[in-house]
Amino acid sequence: MGALLRSLEGKRVAVVVGSGGVGKTSVSAAIALSRAMSGGRALVCTIDPARRLATALGLGSLGNAEALVPPEAFARSGLAPEGQLFAMMLDVKRTWDDLVARHAPDAATRDRILGNRIYQQVSGALAGSQEYMAM
Ligand SMILES: Nc1ncnc2c1ncn2[C@@H]1O[C@H](COP(=O)(O)OP(=O)(O)OP(=O)(O)O)[C@@H](O)[C@H]1O
Ligand SMILES: [Mg+2]
Repeated sequence: MGALLRSLEGKRVAVVVGSGGVGKTSVSAAIALSRAMSGGRALVCTIDPARRLATALGLGSLGNAEALVPPEAFARSGLAPEGQLFAMMLDVKRTWDDLVARHAPDAATRDRILGNRIYQQVSGALAGSQEYMAM
């Protein structure tokens, strides 16, 4: 873990990828925790809808907005971070819809796009949509 953290010094974004079950979520949480411990503001974002990140951080649930891991959660493990740790779980459809709402020129256009069946497929089920919204 020490070598990994040193290789990330000065980096602002780390994308952790790999086959199922190799430890992506655990490593991501550990990287973000390490940043928070040393005074940084870190966000760990899981793009799959699994609940393991929330469980690992002792949080009830995670949503599409970043949630601060509360001081009590650290205190339970005897930790007192100098910085802050946030966590979130990507909601792909919600992120697409927010993007449309933000960029549509008016409410009628927004509603027409949101109601469009091709848009609904693209935003819900198209391969790569999850990774695109995560970025
Ligand atoms: N360094 C490690 N040593 C031993 N066990 C580990 C290590 N990292 C993770 N694990 C364990 O391996 C399992 C899978 O870890 P994790 O959920 O982090 O993997 P993942 O790649 O995110 O999985 P998924 O593809 O299902 O999302 C968990 O039970 C976790 O506790
Ligand atoms: Mg995982």
